[in-house]
Amino acid sequence: MDLLIKGGKIVTADAAFKADIAVKNGKIAAIGVNIKPEAGAETVDAADKLVLPGAIDAHTHLAMPFGGTISADDYEAGTRAAACGGTTTVFDFVLQDFGESMVDAVKRRQAICEPQAVVDYAFHVGVKDVSDGLLDTIDDSVKYGVPSFKVFMVYDFGVTDGVFYQVLEKSKKAGALIAVHAENNEMVNMLTRRFLSEGKTSAWYHYLSRSEFVEAEADERAIQWAKSLNAPLYIVHLANKQGMDAVTKARDEGYPIFAETCPHYLYFTSDVYKREDGRNWVCSPPVKGRESREALWSGVKRGDISTIATDHCPFQQNEKDWGIDDFSKIPNGCAGIENMYPYMLSEANKGRITFNKAVELCATNVAKIFGCAPQKGVLQAGADADIVIYDPKKNFTIKNEFMHGNNDHTIWEGVELKGYPIATYSRGSLVYKDGEFLGSKGAGKFVKCKPIKLTGPDLRNIKF
Ligand code: URP
Ligand code: ZN
Ligand code: ZN
Repeated sequence: MDLLIKGGKIVTADAAFKADIAVKNGKIAAIGVNIKPEAGAETVDAADKLVLPGAIDAHTHLAMPFGGTISADDYEAGTRAAACGGTTTVFDFVLQDFGESMVDAVKRRQAICEPQAVVDYAFHVGVKDVSDGLLDTIDDSVKYGVPSFKVFMVYDFGVTDGVFYQVLEKSKKAGALIAVHAENNEMVNMLTRRFLSEGKTSAWYHYLSRSEFVEAEADERAIQWAKSLNAPLYIVHLANKQGMDAVTKARDEGYPIFAETCPHYLYFTSDVYKREDGRNWVCSPPVKGRESREALWSGVKRGDISTIATDHCPFQQNEKDWGIDDFSKIPNGCAGIENMYPYMLSEANKGRITFNKAVELCATNVAKIFGCAPQKGVLQAGADADIVIYDPKKNFTIKNEFMHGNNDHTIWEGVELKGYPIATYSRGSLVYKDGEFLGSKGAGKFVKCKPIKLTGPDLRNIKF
């Protein structure tokens, strides 16, 4: 035994009980009551604390070329911030180049990530090009351990409806999971041109060019195609009520439709775009109105939101400022990687959801859906010892100066949390303690994910 975490309250997706956790060679060796420390093992007292699986962020954009620049956190800074917020695995988006095979795209980014990452990492491929046999290179990516792919219905590299459909068809044969960024591109482009020509240039018009119905129509279209093929579909960063209703309906009908939302959609409303510094909240899809926020919370409680992820894609203030006089020039994306687990756990601590639910959404479901359970996302013997010790009595006010990424501002500035992670272990190594990063560059390992397997009459059951 190398480490013994004693006397804490262990919280999993479906249980909470007082026990000790023994760790050996980076794995959980045993969970039980009154485990005796072995000679040489470090003992950590977790009395009055919660002991949780490390979170898994299913949606990050580290060092991503986007919006005329590169997102501010590289793999080192992004995973450092993740560790300090209790996240022990990140799924980063690799954008395929035109003409490039899916697996070559993964290997290209893996070479950059490997020497930098401080916690474990996996990838999804953002599909751009399926011409000339590239669609079939999905098979090699699945074999390599990257069985999840994202299609964008927007941006200049977004795919056509026909390509999206082919990717969904292919996913069924390959055991892959398709994720979608759903917004109606035509509407976004037309409304953007119209607002700018009318001199409506502030961040508020970013919201109005991509408001509720613009996202909802694309959600419904994407769900329709997935249903027609009975293909699993994962909607990333869901932010609107009508889309939430469509997900719920499809799931009630038994279709394997999964939805992710992000903490910023659960906390803020579109009112942020009326602020003088509203450009700092510019992301796509934008934060929506109060009704959508409440619908997302209802979806969380009902189980129709399957995961919480960050869509971490920060840009520095001077880059956000490119759009002071033209919202279309603001690079899309915000920081959040260090705030996800603390925010969701704080909401649990305040009584809005259970701690089990926060663990399920931020860790266990992510591992199940993306094929890395039970190595990740759970506390059980044999799993990686990715463990967070959480102090429910420690109050924390988010300030950018306390964050561990590279960004020079945060949309979360001043938000008060009840409770906070006080220690994070990545495969048994202490990487964060009491506000300080203690990990090392290059210690993170690639997590090979398995193809999705849906079971039973209700296809929403995921086997792992
Ligand atoms: O605004 C966002 N979300 N930026 C990152 C790219 C994406 O659409 O996920
Ligand atoms: Zn997106
Ligand atoms: Zn994203």
